Amino acid sequence: MAAAIYIPAGLKVAGSSAVELKISMSSHNTTDLKQILLDKIDSRSARIGVIGLGYVGLPLVVEFGRGGFHSTGFEVDTAKVESINRGVSYIPDVASESVAELVSAGRLEATTDFSQLASKDVIIICVPTPLRKTKDPDVSYILAAAEKIRQSLHRGCLVILESTTYPGTTDEILRPMLDETGLRLDEDYFLAFSPERVDPGNPVYNTRNIPKVVGGVTADSTDVASAVYGVIVEQVHRASSARVAEACKLLENTFRAVNIGMVNELARLCHTLEIDTWEVIAAASTKPFGFMPFYPGPGIGGHCIPLDPHYLSWKARMHGFEARFISLAEEVNSRMPDHVVSLASAGLNRHRKPVNGSRILILGVAYKRDIDDMRESPALPIVDRFVELGADVAFHDPYVAQIPLESRHGHMQGIALTEEAVAGADCVVIVTDHSRIDYGWVIEKAQLVIDTRNTTRTIGVDQFAGKIIRL
Ligand SMILES: NC(=O)c1ccc[n+]([C@@H]2O[C@H](COP(=O)([O-])OP(=O)(O)OC[C@H]3O[C@@H](n4cnc5c(N)ncnc54)[C@H](O)[C@@H]3O)[C@@H](O)[C@H]2O)c1
Repeated sequence: MAAAIYIPAGLKVAGSSAVELKISMSSHNTTDLKQILLDKIDSRSARIGVIGLGYVGLPLVVEFGRGGFHSTGFEVDTAKVESINRGVSYIPDVASESVAELVSAGRLEATTDFSQLASKDVIIICVPTPLRKTKDPDVSYILAAAEKIRQSLHRGCLVILESTTYPGTTDEILRPMLDETGLRLDEDYFLAFSPERVDPGNPVYNTRNIPKVVGGVTADSTDVASAVYGVIVEQVHRASSARVAEACKLLENTFRAVNIGMVNELARLCHTLEIDTWEVIAAASTKPFGFMPFYPGPGIGGHCIPLDPHYLSWKARMHGFEARFISLAEEVNSRMPDHVVSLASAGLNRHRKPVNGSRILILGVAYKRDIDDMRESPALPIVDRFVELGADVAFHDPYVAQIPLESRHGHMQGIALTEEAVAGADCVVIVTDHSRIDYGWVIEKAQLVIDTRNTTRTIGVDQFAGKIIRL
């Protein structure tokens, strides 16, 4: 039996390439390698590297620091790196105090120097996975991160992909790139996928108490990846493969996109039939089984729900399968901004005003309540549509100072929420129901309110009913 050779992370052995070392390994060594990593995780001496410090990566690297590990964030954005190293958070869900405490304790740091990946035992990829203009997956950020890992991959290293992506990415893209180093899966390194489920702005669920699904490319990879997450999250669910874990995330977000699409269609249907959608949903919600409420809105937004289902349908299409629910949901959801504009237009019409020349105040532009994230926000097409129709548009959002304006190839600055702004608007459109805004006061001062979130349900139902139009 060959002797167990364990090469500490980052240590170069003169005259021995990774390939030569691999040849001298036996399955016994593999077990040792796995056990060594498990021991390091157990003793918190495993060094953690997280690539991409955004909404997903920053909370994660902080949680590993809190878990007692030495954690390093790898970022291409120098401003983010400097901010973390100064102990200042730029993500609302992560307190600066937590960052500062970990940085001064020497358990958290950020860097743009990717050569330091060579000293990490666990490397987790949290980079963006956008869509191309053609709505095909853009995995270029994953490829860029994987290339950096490839240059530093060493024996005993565990690589985990967290970015949302289509089933097969870990097996078909990451594994071949890492295998190119001459190191072999399970014999030299481990590879897994674990979807991120963080819900920015959620006061109840966070990285720690959201169950973590973990699917290794092999069973050994599932073991080590489950062990490392087991330190920082309350519950780990083991999937039998990386593909199952990848598909699980896409099921979750497709489930939301399709159900929101269904209820958005119901809202338009109810509008036609002159039935109050919200009352219908409230009544149906009294059923204690077999019904789960979803609520209509001005459209879907954020980095996940509008994008992720396309990753699944793209992969299905590659295999000749057309995912019809996904395309139908997208069609319905993407029409909602126009529906909001048509509700405003009908309301203004009652006041004998055209949209052209009317002053429209948009309340809330972030894609959801109490966060500052503008990605894919339905507020953007709504503002653009009003501008195209000749309206005089302004917006107020306590979390967002400026928005891009596609129709004018420029930007729009937010305004303060003054009595003049509200009373002077011909129509106020509540797009995002941030909890900081006093909606009672808004309704009292406004001439006409389009409520896309049912925010005004409990306020002024009788007194101001005539000036509120709900989705
Ligand atoms: N935001 C969410 O609520 C959420 C929830 C679940 C899953 N996800 C998924 O997680 C992934 C990350 O999303 P996010 O919201 O954190 O994105 P983000 O844009 O907030 O953060 C990504 C970070 O990665 C950095 N980055 C880009 N390329 C890099 C590279 N080559 N090396 C190092 N850093 C790089 C960017 O500068 C950015 O700071 C995506 O796949 C997304 O779909 C996001």
